[in-house]
Amino acid sequence: RMKIAVLTSGGDSAGMNAVVRAIVKGGILKNCETWIVREGYEGLVRGNADAEAPTSVAMPPAVDVKVRDPAFVEHLRFGDGELLRDGTGDHPGGRTLKGRYIVRVGWDDVRGWFAEGGTLIGTARSTAFRTPEGRLKAAYNLIKEGIDALAVCGGDGSLTGADVFRAEWPSLLETLRAQDKITDEQLARHGHLKIVGLVGSIDNDMSMTDLTIGAPTALHRICEAIDNIHSTAISHSRAFVLEVMGRHCGWLALLAGVSSGADFIFIPERPPQADPWEDQMCEAIHRHRAIGKRKTIVIVAEGAHDSHLNPIHASYVKDVLTDRLGLDTRVTTLGHIQRGGRPCASDRILPTLQGLEAVDALLEATPDKPSYMIGMRENRVTRVPLMEAVAMTQSVTQAIKDKDFEKAMSLRDPEFHE
Ligand code: F6P
Repeated sequence: RMKIAVLTSGGDSAGMNAVVRAIVKGGILKNCETWIVREGYEGLVRGNADAEAPTSVAMPPAVDVKVRDPAFVEHLRFGDGELLRDGTGDHPGGRTLKGRYIVRVGWDDVRGWFAEGGTLIGTARSTAFRTPEGRLKAAYNLIKEGIDALAVCGGDGSLTGADVFRAEWPSLLETLRAQDKITDEQLARHGHLKIVGLVGSIDNDMSMTDLTIGAPTALHRICEAIDNIHSTAISHSRAFVLEVMGRHCGWLALLAGVSSGADFIFIPERPPQADPWEDQMCEAIHRHRAIGKRKTIVIVAEGAHDSHLNPIHASYVKDVLTDRLGLDTRVTTLGHIQRGGRPCASDRILPTLQGLEAVDALLEATPDKPSYMIGMRENRVTRVPLMEAVAMTQSVTQAIKDKDFEKAMSLRDPEFHE
């Protein structure tokens, strides 16, 4: 029976809990044992303090599950569910879990998780996991629990970490064996770490997939905010400059602009063509005002810059609109409001489908195949080689740094670009 552990890493996003739920439930239905790792890679490095080994038993599921295999029923019941739902913490951070980061979970533990925002199993930026010593500890902690498959939900940095870990795995095991920390039997049994990546990020910045988990919710949040701004902007005939998240990616800004009829949008992949861009923006907005618009909306991606890579800040855009067009202008920085809160429907459906695919990918993994990233192409769940997707994503950022904006756009989404 395969033992799957799932962790969430990097910035949280709506839909991460649905991923965990789908992997736990999907794994159980495929006769796997399911575990969660709290606090991302940091939890892998910290592992479980021996003194606080699991003792609790989850409640049996309320649903009438018709199964013939008694071992299956046993598995449904015997997670550490009561620990996860312990009243001392809102979720797995409660007192009972102190010192335990790798926790076996059952069916009931993840009930209803698809509707919860953020990530209930926690996420952290782990410096320890970036070191070989940290990864050695992580490998030991997984083997100690007998875990041989890992599903990682996070952005490109987190998925790169997963692949590095897999590549290093054989030598980490050799070291552990040489240090007498694992037996020959464990060495033989755990020779291959199965890894799968799922992209959880509001930025929608991963290549080789159309949509990342959490991006639709964040976009929806931004649209709602702009809708609210509309009425007050129209009342006062004001201009608003909105700064939105996205790191090096302009997807949120671009799509929010399209969804809300913005007057001007700044994104990193395609800086304004004109030099100076201030003329181009003012000319467009003046034209819109001249045909009777009472409000102006300008959206600035947080990573926006001009064609020389000088950052474009919302406050500067405001000054330009005020000084050159005489517009009464305000700046709104949406911040983490974009990232938090309940997932929209597609951030429940997408992670559910992808989580189930991730379980299959792990079950079918062999040492000679690459690790896969679960993606989405033309409304279908796909598997793409993890490292290819990560490398392509990194080359977009490089193309932007090289001021090769055509290349950046084409790498970001080749089909859309065509
Ligand atoms: O990658 C997700 C993201 O929200 C980016 O859009 C943003 O640049 C960054 O994370 C903010 O990170 P933090 O939550 O650490 O401030």
